[in-house]
Amino acid sequence: MTDGVTGRRGVIALMGAMDVEVAAIRQAICQPRLVTVLGCEITSGLLDGHPVLLAESGIGKVNASLTTAALAQAGATSLVFVGVAGGVGPGIQVGDAVVATSLVQHDVDITVFGHAPGVISGVLAGGVADSGLSDALAAGARALNATVHRGIIASGDQFITSPDRAAAIAQQFDAMAVEMEGAAVAQVCTRLGLPFAVLRWISDTADGHAETDFGQFVQKIAQLDLAVVKQLLSTR
Ligand code: ADE
Repeated sequence: MTDGVTGRRGVIALMGAMDVEVAAIRQAICQPRLVTVLGCEITSGLLDGHPVLLAESGIGKVNASLTTAALAQAGATSLVFVGVAGGVGPGIQVGDAVVATSLVQHDVDITVFGHAPGVISGVLAGGVADSGLSDALAAGARALNATVHRGIIASGDQFITSPDRAAAIAQQFDAMAVEMEGAAVAQVCTRLGLPFAVLRWISDTADGHAETDFGQFVQKIAQLDLAVVKQLLSTR
């Protein structure tokens, strides 16, 4: 896909679910221009001289799917999602970063018809992240002295606050983190042939304290996301 809203090639789309996850990136964009595509508000402009698109999807897989399609329609040639997640893998702590190798929808369940969990028509509901973009995100997070994990992220339309549910998702999908958008982004990007990567900062460990931990951590996220994105762009 070429042109679209920006009329340029090599346009990276930046996406987060909530305002706090993208606010600092939005403020750093020069020559911002607002467009609405498929009902989604998209900011186009330059970040450190690189053409970018930015969108806040809203929470959940349906919002993420629509926004991904809108960014593709607007001319994105790759997509990076940044935000927070609950850590469910062994040794993953609040403040760590998880860069997805692949993503799966943990709430896709047609096992009653003999399909594996997370699978529809023999295909994993999600997708495999681009290794180059993911390497760049991991390097960006490491440059901020974060502990970086690489592995599977599981998405569903549920905020997980139960250790039992967290452990079940971790075990069933070999997942390191849970969140509510990434696998939808992955599935749409895969369908559209758009390279993508997902970085999640661990805000909580998906247990009984998740809501409080999430609320405290999320305030720090804007600057972390901006720093990693700038680092990624500097490698391009
Ligand atoms: N995003 C951040 N923490 C989460 C959790 N515990 N469950 C789902 N999404 C999250």
